[in-house]
Amino acid sequence: MSYPSQRPRRLRRSKALRSLVRETRLSTEGLIYPMFVCPGSQVRTEVPSMPGICQQSVDQLVEECREVGELGIPGIILFGLPEQKDELGSGAWDPAGVVQRAVEAIRKAKLDLLVITDVCLCEYTSHGHCGVVKDGQVLNDPTLEYLAQSALSHARAGADIVAPSDMMDGRVAAIRRKLDEHGFTEVAILSYAAKYCSAFYGPFREAAQSAPQFGDRRSYQMDPANAREALREVELDIEEGADLVMVKPALPYLDVIRAVRERFELPVAAYNVSGEYAMVKAAVRNGWLDEKRVVLEILTSIYRAGAGIVLTYHAKDIARWLKAC
Ligand code: PBG
Repeated sequence: MSYPSQRPRRLRRSKALRSLVRETRLSTEGLIYPMFVCPGSQVRTEVPSMPGICQQSVDQLVEECREVGELGIPGIILFGLPEQKDELGSGAWDPAGVVQRAVEAIRKAKLDLLVITDVCLCEYTSHGHCGVVKDGQVLNDPTLEYLAQSALSHARAGADIVAPSDMMDGRVAAIRRKLDEHGFTEVAILSYAAKYCSAFYGPFREAAQSAPQFGDRRSYQMDPANAREALREVELDIEEGADLVMVKPALPYLDVIRAVRERFELPVAAYNVSGEYAMVKAAVRNGWLDEKRVVLEILTSIYRAGAGIVLTYHAKDIARWLKAC
């Protein structure tokens, strides 16, 4: 039976009807807000390509965390800008490093907030790559111990979840083993399982000062053309002990999010990355897009594709808008 007995417009007639039949409902409950911590005190420097997002010292960061919690956002993910970078990226596992101190301070402030830490070396290495470099190559296996040490230092500081974003093979297993050996069996691993080699990370590299000083990340991050390979990456990370898996970036990879959602039972996260944020902000500044409508539509599309968790720089704005709805 079709028209005139079938009239899909019947259910679009009023706000109440549309809301009743809505398949994807927006909520603040799945949001994670990314934050950048830097040395010093009283520092709050806006990242030029990411309006509204700042590099902040621990004291300022804790204040913003309080606001994030009050908005009903369940958690944050932390990235660190170390005092100094070196060849190995030793700032990444320094017990007195920026991220470790920030986690401790958030814990001390007794905020009701999940604390996730990004585990990677690129913000801490002088060459800007995510692993140990020798003769111009990023080495896999020698990097694993450093990543595991970093994750352990985050757990010791009080992180709830550690999130490796380096794309070395075997890092989830190495981190799980290290955490368990030291009694941190309850600290979960959110694996950036399908992380693509994307041009959309540009603004983040400005924020985190982590652009590679030579070459690119194509030898370890995924080729944007591959979706089946993403399923294999996710499968391997689950076998190694990941508790949650992530697809990153989000918008250009909605098909991958959907495929991962259908194939696996674990919670799926998606990272609405810096470049996706910057595009929206730039267009809004020019008066070319309606920020609220565009951001809520983007969020809807990521949830609709199958993500249950969305890491996004828009989190605070979204929480405010949803509260006012
Ligand atoms: C670190 C890392 C990156 C992002 C998250 N963790 C950058 C990269 O791989 O170069 C990107 C996040 C964003 O663009 O918002 N490896």
